[in-house]
This record gives sequence, structure tokens and C-alpha cells, in this order.
Amino acid sequence: MADKTPAGRFITLEGGEGAGKSTNLEYIRTQLESAGIPVVVTREPGGTQLSEQIRKLLLDTGNTEMSSDAELLLMFAARAQHLKQFILPALQQGTWVLCDRFTDATYAYQGGGRGIDNERIAILEEWVQQGFQPDITILFDLPVEVGLDRASNRGQLDRFEQEQQLFFERVRAAYLARAEQQPQRFRIIDADQPLDNVQSQLDGVMTQLLSKTGSIE
Ligand code: TMP
Repeated sequence: MADKTPAGRFITLEGGEGAGKSTNLEYIRTQLESAGIPVVVTREPGGTQLSEQIRKLLLDTGNTEMSSDAELLLMFAARAQHLKQFILPALQQGTWVLCDRFTDATYAYQGGGRGIDNERIAILEEWVQQGFQPDITILFDLPVEVGLDRASNRGQLDRFEQEQQLFFERVRAAYLARAEQQPQRFRIIDADQPLDNVQSQLDGVMTQLLSKTGSIE
């Protein structure tokens, strides 16, 4: 990437369907703003005009013929644009970026869910990110059936939400495996708890993140 030591921090939120990322993303944003930190919120796939158009293709239930490889490449096409146009410029200006999903979602959904080899995903990751990684990744973990039950109350399901429980079991297992492989970057939140409990778990993560002696320094 152009600048390997950006001033802002890159925080990603991950988890299966119905894990409560959106609600808690707002909570984290508020916490950071109260601490006087400039922060922008974004999401993947999406975050720029072009990437949001790619998102529409990816989530469209009419695209029943989309191959796993096409899906994978579209995820990274959206990400390449998002990084260049939005994420890296913000970080270089010293703004923190709070992103709803990033490349761990690709390992979880296209790797775990669809069964694409991690090695193939890693090739695209290196191509697009050139070593760039989140500073910290907060994984909202909960049993698949609980998440699907929550997500089903939201109305129409997108192309991913229409998948079966086994798919999401593989997604969850892949997320947890990544968290286990990279404990220095991941923080796991038990999302199968009432909101105030989830937020007090997040408070612990934020305190660590904001402290100068935090382990992500
Ligand atoms: P969202 O529901 O969190 O907005 O994310 C949209 C869907 O896209 C979600 O079902 C997960 C999926 N997704 C992938 O399959 N791979 C990826 O790399 C990303 C970022 C999202």
C-alpha cells in the first residue's frame, strides 16, 4: 500500500447473520467520538459508489447462477475500490475507520461457507491489500440458530441470508478458526447475551484500544 504506517486505526467488525454488528457499530462509534477521535463508519461489500453497485450484484437473490469464484472476485473488486478510494485516504489523514466486515468475512463466507481454498483467497488478499490488515477485529459470535432467528425477523432475505444452517455453521467455524490463529488481532464478543452485557464486553475492548499500553500498539 502507498503508506504502510497510516495514522488512523482500522477496526473491523465481523460475525454471522443476526450477530448485532450494526447496533454495536453505532455504540463503538459513539465511544470513539466521546474520546475525541475522528471516526468514519463504512461497510463491505460497499463503502463507495462503485463498491455499493457491486454489493447489489452480490446480494441480489436473482443472481442464482453466480459461481463461487465470481462471488469471490466481486468481493475483492469491491474491496480494492473501497481501500483505494475511502479506507486508506481516511487512515492517512488520521481518521479511524470502523468497517462492518472486511476480509475475514471472505475467509468465513467464501472460504468456510462456499468451500474455496484459503490459499486462493490469500492470493487475492495479497494482491489487493499488499500486507494491509485491520488493527483490531471484533468478532461477534453466537450460535447459528440464534442469529438466523434474529435475522429472519428483519424482512426479506438477501442471497447470503437465504443459505441453509449448515452453510452458516461453516461460516462460524471459519471465523472462530481465524480468531484462534490470530489472537493478537481478534477480540471475541459473546453476542448471545443481552445488549448491556455485550456492550460491557465492548467497553473492555475499547478501554484496551484507547489505552496507550494496549496490546495492539
Ligand atoms: P451484511 O449483511 O453484514 O451487510 O453483509 C452482506 C453479506 O455479504 C453478508 O451475508 C456476508 C457477505 N459477505 C461475504 O460473503 N464475503 C465478504 O467478504 C463480505 C465482506 C461479506
